[in-house]
Amino acid sequence: MIAVPSPLVRPILFFDSGIGGLSVVKEARILLPEHSYVYVADDAAFPYGAWEEGALRTRLISLFGDLIARFSPSLIVIACNTASTLAIGDLRNAFPGQPFVGTVPAVKPAAERTCSGLVSVLATPGTVKRQYTRDLIDTYAAKCDVRLVGSENLARLAEQYMREGFVDEDAVRAEIAPCFVEEGRRRTDIVVLACTHYPFLVNRLRKTAPWPVDWIDTSEAIARRALTLAESLSAPGPRKAPDVAYFTSRKPPASLRRLVSGFGLALVGEAATA
Ligand code: DGL
Repeated sequence: MIAVPSPLVRPILFFDSGIGGLSVVKEARILLPEHSYVYVADDAAFPYGAWEEGALRTRLISLFGDLIARFSPSLIVIACNTASTLAIGDLRNAFPGQPFVGTVPAVKPAAERTCSGLVSVLATPGTVKRQYTRDLIDTYAAKCDVRLVGSENLARLAEQYMREGFVDEDAVRAEIAPCFVEEGRRRTDIVVLACTHYPFLVNRLRKTAPWPVDWIDTSEAIARRALTLAESLSAPGPRKAPDVAYFTSRKPPASLRRLVSGFGLALVGEAATA
């Protein structure tokens, strides 16, 4: 007898300001191959890093109202540190009954792994400013020296690299330079990649770093959390629906269209016909 899989009808929705969240989708598809995926990029508002907190919170709550109505997701993964550290609590309050997985800087594993005690958190300017991030450091890394590095341009450079296959290495070097600290005989040995765009640049980060460090990427851990929640939620459905991508600009450029189609995502919304 042929075993019939029992996938979900309702998709898992992955969300980011841009295409960085695809680093989490990549891992999730390995762990949860039978699920259907919706990838949403709020590219109309990218980058989130410099947004004023109140305005971004309001935007996110209103946008998620639309996304939940449009896609009826079984689970939402906020694959964006900048949005999660600001609004994960507000989103849970605004949409009770809708499960969310958030993405926050991996301060705890960094504190557990560091030998030198010098750790850097590389993130958007928004994420480094957040009280949420400060609280994580106070709770889990009080014994370490944690340097918060808010990068103005790295998310954009990662988007460029993913779309065009090229990135200015001098620009990358300049963005990451403040992560590298030497104090007497100690030097930074861990850099937390606290923005989902950065794992796509990790080879360039390694190449331009002044010395080798451990780059902590949380994509797999987020996907595992999604797996745990998805298993507890699962309702059997007839078959897997096609995986789709939705861009809030409704008009992503050709390079983005190519990229998402390379990920096996079909564009939906007005962008699909533009
Ligand atoms: N990928 C997002 C994050 O994890 C943010 C990129 C941006 O909008 O600047 O923080």
